[in-house]
Amino acid sequence: MTNDDLSLLVETSDEWIRTRTGIRKRHLATTDLSLSELSAQAATQAIAMANLTANDVDLIILATSTADDLFGSAAKVQAILQANRAVAFDLTAACSGFVFGLITASQFIRTGVYKNVLVIGADILSRWVDWSDRSSCVLFGDGAGAVLCQGSTDEDRLLGSAMYSNGEQHEALNIGYDGTGKKLKDGITVNQGTYKPITMKGRDVYRFAVEKVPEVIEKALFNAQLTTDDVDWLILHQANQRIIDSVAKRLKIPPQKVIANLDEYGNTSAASIPLALDEAVRQGKIKPGEIIASSGFGAGLTWGAVIFRWGI
Ligand code: UT7
Repeated sequence: MTNDDLSLLVETSDEWIRTRTGIRKRHLATTDLSLSELSAQAATQAIAMANLTANDVDLIILATSTADDLFGSAAKVQAILQANRAVAFDLTAACSGFVFGLITASQFIRTGVYKNVLVIGADILSRWVDWSDRSSCVLFGDGAGAVLCQGSTDEDRLLGSAMYSNGEQHEALNIGYDGTGKKLKDGITVNQGTYKPITMKGRDVYRFAVEKVPEVIEKALFNAQLTTDDVDWLILHQANQRIIDSVAKRLKIPPQKVIANLDEYGNTSAASIPLALDEAVRQGKIKPGEIIASSGFGAGLTWGAVIFRWGI
């Protein structure tokens, strides 16, 4: 779906969207594609790249805010993959979900509980976008990405991390529940309804991102006993090219070390970091042993960073 396509839906233009966000187009899931199937496609490719089979996977963490089922979609992904030994659960932290998932995976690996952990970031936000709201509908796209994290006896490649939440700013970005009372009997009324489309205070989220993302990356680098000079690649959640440029500038990381693909995909929420990582690895940009600084940020509000050494 291009910017020009969107300008037929709402009062906007390719020029406005490109200059304010850096986005040129976004990919939208077809009506019959489930989040579980999209996730499983990404997961299959990650397992193959790791030279493993689905049976080797011990744990599946599905970072998503748009599960097919409010009870979770991770177990469905496990079934599609036939990852018969794996336990699977969803993790909801909006656009921070993939980074939170990676850090969660590392805890299970470090404690020796699990060896092979699949972390999937996937979202189909097109199902929750208000397609008449030009201030938000131009931003989002659908996607899925996955990594296979494997315990190793020679080196812990998750070098540092940091995570934060601030529920005081919860109203800045929501897919809120909206229900009304349904009386079951005198004195007992329950609330029944569904979720409303995305609402967003764009400027507040923008300000939050440019302030907190450099801080959290510096904190994660400090925990890793590294500096920005040690970073080979910066991969931020792909929300807005201006946010990416501002964060890189503040950290004094040169543009040639910054990976961005939101011009093609828009903001794919929990999928954006693994999508960008996967493309950069497959293009041969990211090489084994290189150090990646990554940060996710978004609804909650939540934000986090992870510093890791690429292992394949
Ligand atoms: O995963 C995290 C998800 N959220 C984000 O990352 C959002 C972060 N925020 C942003 O990326 C930016 O705030 C936006 C891209 C959402 C908006 O950019 P902005 O530079 O902050 O624009 P604005 O909201 O201050 O709006 C400027 C003008 C307004 O018109 P007036 O009031 O100045 O006349 C808006 O009504 O642009 C107007 N506008 C648009 N015009 C054309 C807002 N959306 C559009 C649009 N096309 N799509």
